[in-house]
Amino acid sequence: MSIVIAVDGTAASGKGTLAKRLAQHFGFHHLDSGSLYRLVALGVHEAKGDPDAEADALAAARIIDPAKAADPRIRSAEIGHMASLVSVFPGVRETLLAYQRNFAARAPGAVIDGRDIGTVVCPDAVAKLFVDAAPEVRAHRRFLELQSYGASPNEADLLEELKARDIRDRTRAVAPLKPASDAALLDTTHLGIEPAFAAALALVEPRVEQALKARPRG
Ligand code: DC
Repeated sequence: MSIVIAVDGTAASGKGTLAKRLAQHFGFHHLDSGSLYRLVALGVHEAKGDPDAEADALAAARIIDPAKAADPRIRSAEIGHMASLVSVFPGVRETLLAYQRNFAARAPGAVIDGRDIGTVVCPDAVAKLFVDAAPEVRAHRRFLELQSYGASPNEADLLEELKARDIRDRTRAVAPLKPASDAALLDTTHLGIEPAFAAALALVEPRVEQALKARPRG
């Protein structure tokens, strides 16, 4: 049995960094599920399709290659926006579900970050975090991240885009962004990476240790 840690949360809340660090700590695999939706968005973009058209989004979802998640083009603000648009379609979500569930089954364990991991993709995850931070703080983090990719974003525009994205992610009909009822909430507004990681580890570690002990040997 594989052990899954679900790390959900808002855009630029720090969930991706925390998930990566948790995976390193436990020696687990890490999946950034947002990169799958971003790959779908890139596919629509390259096919000159419409991200608001379900048929275009679905056609792209069916042929994405998750091995391309390191492509820097999926990190742009435009593709992030389009990813939020294509992610509202149930067919797109369904298409990406099998890949995420297979990933979750990888031994010895997996840390998956996203919006619906603790609620829909892996409701039986042994530990669930829901990460959030004030929108202004998240916009600043996204600003620094995009700069590190060589872009010159406008921080005020990023803030507006983040707020719009939060609303879209929270209000979509299928698998909306919301904490699982058994998720631990972590607000990183006033936490740098190290204190945030320490807080995340303190919430997750007892559950992971328990699951490791309960796992059948051999
Ligand atoms: O985490 P991110 O910014 O890379 O995610 C981009 C978009 O993908 C996000 O706005 C909504 C969508 N997404 C989703 O619907 N479900 C997930 N599990 C992950 C991302």
